Amino acid sequence: MKLLFINGVNLNMTGKREKSVYGSETLAEIDAEIAGFCEAHGAECEFFQSNLEGEICTRIQQSDADGIILNAGAFTHYSYAIRDAIASVQTPVVEVHMSNVAAREEFRHTSVIAPVCRGSVVGFGKMSYILAAGSFLL
Ligand code: DQA
Repeated sequence: MKLLFINGVNLNMTGKREKSVYGSETLAEIDAEIAGFCEAHGAECEFFQSNLEGEICTRIQQSDADGIILNAGAFTHYSYAIRDAIASVQTPVVEVHMSNVAAREEFRHTSVIAPVCRGSVVGFGKMSYILAAGSFLL
């Protein structure tokens, strides 16, 4: 079992930006914890972050993973390109958000990718990624 974790726009700033919302751990630190969880459950994992919408679409199209865990960041709310990339592949994709987007600004209440994802894990900080990985591994 191989899982691909994709983080979209601005997620590279995790640990530096809006710490009260996203925490003070960097994305590299969070990825290391996720890798530990995956390895403990016998799964391979890989990580990809990009601020560029098209690069995320290409990564989804080219993935050979058994599952994708995607935090698309703000792209979630308006990227029909990422929505269509997810719809174009057989690989199941689980949507993740660290913050509880339903409790934030109105524009964050819409996810254009949710309808083409297997499910969504929202609001549990870095644990959102691990819970999403658990949906494949537990
Ligand atoms: C986010 C929520 C998005 O609304 C926001 O644009 C992000 C991060 C989250 O993980 O909570 O960049 O995806």
